[in-house]
Amino acid sequence: MLKCSDQSQIEQGEQMEILGVDIGGSGIKGALVDTGAGEFSSERLRIATPQPSTPAAVAAVVGQISAHFGWNAPIGCTFPAVVKNGVTMTAANVDDAWIGADAAGLLSEATGNRTLVLNDADAAGIAEMRFGAGRGRRDLVIILTLGTGVGSSLFIDGRLLPNSEFGHLQIRGKDAEWRTSERARIEKGYSWKQWGKRISEHLAYLEFLLSPDLFIIGGGVSKRYKKFFRHIDCETEIVPAQLRNRAGIIGAAVAAAALR
Ligand code: BGC
Repeated sequence: MLKCSDQSQIEQGEQMEILGVDIGGSGIKGALVDTGAGEFSSERLRIATPQPSTPAAVAAVVGQISAHFGWNAPIGCTFPAVVKNGVTMTAANVDDAWIGADAAGLLSEATGNRTLVLNDADAAGIAEMRFGAGRGRRDLVIILTLGTGVGSSLFIDGRLLPNSEFGHLQIRGKDAEWRTSERARIEKGYSWKQWGKRISEHLAYLEFLLSPDLFIIGGGVSKRYKKFFRHIDCETEIVPAQLRNRAGIIGAAVAAAALR
């Protein structure tokens, strides 16, 4: 097992192994991550998200994942909500009981390991900026993850501005997520062209607000980017994410490496 205790070694890209966990509305996934290389160093374990996805039930699954890997060190864990100082402030696609919950405390207790909790799109953004499509970019980068919800992360000079929540901008009087998520595409039966048009409106609004230099489009659907990118009309450079559904786990592990 790779270990190190010196933060300067992390910054120099030394290898360190950390357990990353990604909590989603349908699955909770965990893998060991080589945080120097930005790669999984174990197989990925996926357990269905308990329904209802209450804090106690979800924490028990994260405890099970930690035990599966025999883990005894810090953990990085994503959550699909605004997370401030380990407290989950919202709950868009998970049980409402998470609002105001001490997620970091609950997960640390369930795993017996210090657990850092951060927004899922912020974690994915950290991974893309360090190892993927945003590598080396110092200008204003916005990552949007199109999945059950729409997550966002915002970077300037390589630094994250956490909890941006651009998926909930109001567009045509509706929550943008209900038009541009992968779930909306499937449930509403949008063609790639119709979906591309809705994504274009979402990006245009972000261009108006922030004048970004780069959009990175992530989420599982980003591997099919050729199907919908040609229907997206935007002024800003736009690229697909590279780490796809590994990004959350990798970014969470990278963020937690600092705790070691
Ligand atoms: C939540 C975000 C989350 C995104 C992706 C949205 O509904 O508000 O916090 O990042 O879904 O899971």
